[in-house]
Amino acid sequence: EVTETNYFATDDHFAGSLFIPRNEFAHKGSYGKAVIVGGSYGKIGAAVLATKSALKTGAGLTFTLAPQCGYEVLQTSCPEAMFIEGGEQYIKDFDIDKGAVIGIGPGLGTHADTQKGLLKFLKDNQAPLVLDADALNIISEDKKNLQLIPKRSIITPHPKEFERLFGPTENSFERLELARKKAEELGVYIVLKDHHTQVITPDGKVYYNLTGNAGLAKGGSGDILTGILTSLLAQRYSEKNACILGVWLHGKAADLAAEKHSKESMLPTDVIDELGNVFIDLN
Ligand code: APR
Ligand code: MG
Repeated sequence: EVTETNYFATDDHFAGSLFIPRNEFAHKGSYGKAVIVGGSYGKIGAAVLATKSALKTGAGLTFTLAPQCGYEVLQTSCPEAMFIEGGEQYIKDFDIDKGAVIGIGPGLGTHADTQKGLLKFLKDNQAPLVLDADALNIISEDKKNLQLIPKRSIITPHPKEFERLFGPTENSFERLELARKKAEELGVYIVLKDHHTQVITPDGKVYYNLTGNAGLAKGGSGDILTGILTSLLAQRYSEKNACILGVWLHGKAADLAAEKHSKESMLPTDVIDELGNVFIDLN
């Protein structure tokens, strides 16, 4: 049912109201453990971008589960993060301590062993996850896999990934209505990435984001969002607030990066670098 009360816009004021300033007496345990699971030979950069974003969004401890071929790059580019080995050229073992918030997908690849490992992990795991990119592509291989997504997880498909998961739609309105139906059926939060990304909650509410620009239309932009969302969840933001605030943060940092570098030249790395300025303004 289309009523006014189901559709909202995330402006700066609303996003600011969700932000929780850091407690002066905090220690690293206060802000949770974020684990980024991703990377494969040739796509380690995706894991780097997501890991850096998780760090720069404020998680207490950040880990990357990646294949061995990414070890040196990750430890050099993200010295604050800890490395967990999950395979050689691609991830096949998804062994992660309980109590961490896990974001899976950037640069993961879809090797048969990765698929097997991920599906096994999903069968054993009940905690909410952030699922993106190839994690979603692997799930899309068989409609039955959708039931393996833990309740209250956040999934972040771009339009093509959305179509692979849930099938084709005629236009963006139909896609949004299908997303509302699926979010409710599966009990998940859907971050439908686009210009004006939409956050869809399991109770059928839609939050249109007002930040972000076409400078984000570059490989690697999505990986940053995965890191931000995983980090906010680790810091105990609710799933809903993590989605709304995280998508807004990502777009706001991109708007600052565009002012400095232009939409053409700004890189996902520049977006990560602007996260600090967005937090300065929020504080
Ligand atoms: N305006 C505003 N925001 C935009 C625009 C735009 N014109 N174009 C892109 N964005 C934002 C999206 O909203 C989203 O947050 O940039 C991000 C792009 O995310 P993805 O589509 O996931 O792109 P990418 O970073 O390249 O993904 C990396 O994962 O999804 C797979 O196949 C993909 O291999 C690729 C990898
Ligand atoms: Mg992506």
